Amino acid sequence: MFSLKGHTAIVTGGASGIGLATARMLADIKANVVIADLNDQAGQDMVATLAAEGCNAIFVRTDVADAADVNALIAASLEKFGSVEILMHFAGIGMEQSALATVQGDWDRIIGVNLTGSFLMMQAASRVMIERGYGRIVAMSSMAGLRGGTGRAAYGASKGGVAAMMRVMSMEWAGSGVTVNALAPGAIETALVKKMHDAETRRAYLAGIPMDRYGTPEEVAAAAVYLALPQSSYITGVTLPVDGGFDASGVIKRG
Ligand SMILES: NC(=O)c1ccc[n+]([C@@H]2O[C@H](COP(=O)([O-])OP(=O)(O)OC[C@H]3O[C@@H](n4cnc5c(N)ncnc54)[C@H](O)[C@@H]3O)[C@@H](O)[C@H]2O)c1
Repeated sequence: MFSLKGHTAIVTGGASGIGLATARMLADIKANVVIADLNDQAGQDMVATLAAEGCNAIFVRTDVADAADVNALIAASLEKFGSVEILMHFAGIGMEQSALATVQGDWDRIIGVNLTGSFLMMQAASRVMIERGYGRIVAMSSMAGLRGGTGRAAYGASKGGVAAMMRVMSMEWAGSGVTVNALAPGAIETALVKKMHDAETRRAYLAGIPMDRYGTPEEVAAAAVYLALPQSSYITGVTLPVDGGFDASGVIKRG
């Protein structure tokens, strides 16, 4: 029942973490996978792994904040597979820095990749999808974009912006067969989090997570893949928490 045979999925950020786990899961249910990432080596290694297992996969080196790269990515995907049904736009960067200590260069870099990159990717992919009357777009927000955690002025603003933009796009394209949703992960064990979360952040985060643990990339990928299926056709404009209960939580007594 849950097959994506004949569907082509672009996965940005597909060389690592949540993107890599999602690319793996999409390939497992027979999608053609286009891995788009800045990291050449890891992207090509992933494609080699998938190809060795008989999956259809290509790597396209892409900076999602660069409009020319984004257009070249769409063109390369169409040239190889003839269509783009799914966009998993997960490329992103982060930084833990207080609002007062955030310099404009860091602000511009994070907004540029996370928010402008999302705009460019979602707009470019949707053009192909709207023309063909079918598409599934999954953007990447974050709990940091919905809640007010410390140290996340630039990152939180970029991710809150993604959720707002996703809602607008989902309205504008609602009659076109293209659904647009976003994921809002909490704390997921990846390379990004190893960089962003020091020991104090980890303790503080765990205190607010009812499940009392960080999530895995596969747990986010499973939610992403559901939103990429033809069967998710009546869900659009949703920002889905994948967070061990963090967003729903209040006072938590343990034991
Ligand atoms: N890990 C978490 O706890 C968490 C929580 C909420 C949201 N997120 C979001 O999930 C997404 C994936 O994060 P992750 O934790 O898997 O991180 P990750 O660092 O493991 O993977 C991110 C990937 O994006 C790529 N990338 C970065 N900038 C790029 C650019 N300009 N163009 C193309 N590729 C680029 C990197 O090379 C890397 O392969 C990000 O958008 C992140 O903000 C992560």
